[in-house]
Amino acid sequence: MINKITEDLVYVGVYDKDVKIFESQYPLENGVSYNSYVLFDEKTVLFDTSDVRVSKQYFENLKEALGDKKPDYIVVSHMEPDHSANLKIVLDMYKDMKIIANKRTIPMIENFTQMSVADRVIEVGEGSEINIGKHTLKFILAPMVHWPEVMMTYDMYDKTLFSADAFGRFGNMNQDDDENFDEARRYYCNIVGKYGAQVLTVLKKAAALDIKRICPLHSSILDKKIGAFIEKYSLWASYTPEEKDKVTVCYASIHGNTKKVAETIVKEALGDKAELYDLTTCDLSAAVAGTFKNGKLLLMCSTYDAGMFTPMKNFLARLNAKGICNREVAIIENGSWAPAAGKLIKAEMESMKNMTVIDEVITIKSTANKETEEKIKELCSKF
Ligand SMILES: Cc1cc2nc3c(=O)[nH]c(=O)nc-3n(C[C@H](O)[C@H](O)[C@H](O)COP(=O)(O)O)c2cc1C
Ligand SMILES: [Fe+2]
Ligand SMILES: [Fe+2]
Repeated sequence: MINKITEDLVYVGVYDKDVKIFESQYPLENGVSYNSYVLFDEKTVLFDTSDVRVSKQYFENLKEALGDKKPDYIVVSHMEPDHSANLKIVLDMYKDMKIIANKRTIPMIENFTQMSVADRVIEVGEGSEINIGKHTLKFILAPMVHWPEVMMTYDMYDKTLFSADAFGRFGNMNQDDDENFDEARRYYCNIVGKYGAQVLTVLKKAAALDIKRICPLHSSILDKKIGAFIEKYSLWASYTPEEKDKVTVCYASIHGNTKKVAETIVKEALGDKAELYDLTTCDLSAAVAGTFKNGKLLLMCSTYDAGMFTPMKNFLARLNAKGICNREVAIIENGSWAPAAGKLIKAEMESMKNMTVIDEVITIKSTANKETEEKIKELCSKF
């Protein structure tokens, strides 16, 4: 279904409600959309394409929007296949259509499509402008948000920012009124998280623009929550917690004893201050997002073959890969004969930037006793 956004701008993307996993690792409860747009003026401009999963619907939408018109240009904001899978087909369909791309994108287009595109590319760079009638498009480079070639487009006439993957969310197209940023946060932290410095650079460029509407590549077109969204991005990109006093409690327990202690901590000591993640069953991307959200992190882990129990190891590898920093951390280990998980978690924290371990590692030997209970109580009072 196509959807008119302004007099001149039509949504031709597709909401893929059935897809269960994104980028082969992030579980989806409510699918994801691949957004693409057509801007009509003296010249007709197509913005990106779609994922291969939804090609049939995408081409139906494109035909419905274009009618007899042929696009003069396609703006390629980003070559990741969730947006460029159908690029080769549209380039073949519309032989006279020119490609608007920056110099880092051009070889990527050729590598992904195995086509030579030199004779049909209009190369643009930071601040380049292309006039298409009453609309003038201005290009803003956003390298490493989250691929090197990423480029945003600002329509100076309608004050619309085509923001590439930035400001996207998992889930459906109707989230602009949503106060809940959980799916935006999970998307940002896991996909863009490592590139906070680059996101801050782009936010500075965006601050100089008068933006009435943001058209991202996933989920809702934003015209109501732009300020709130930009505020969240500023926090996430600078690794500043949204809730500085809240504690993300992440545990990995083999036989349930560490789990029992974690649940008791939440029930009796931390209450609403805590967000609990069982790393053996939860979506690790949600636990990563929780860690970005809250100022404090409590890691609890059984020892496994003289190491960390695997779900904790996997979680910390993901956290490290996403560049998390600036959190207060406490560690509780469990081991039945030679507990070792705590020391390894501590070393992992020390390999990250400004992850401050606030207390000695607390060791549980199989089950909590009076002494460990006292230590845990004291630790919780420091949170
Ligand atoms: C395969 C396996 C390997 C383990 N390796 C160790 C170990 O190297 N050192 C140790 O102290 N405990 C080891 N344990 C015991 C766990 O740490 C034990 O389950 C834990 O102390 C109790 O907490 P839990 O019920 O939360 O798992 C191992 C357990 C399993 C099942
Ligand atoms: Fe992407
Ligand atoms: Fe994307």
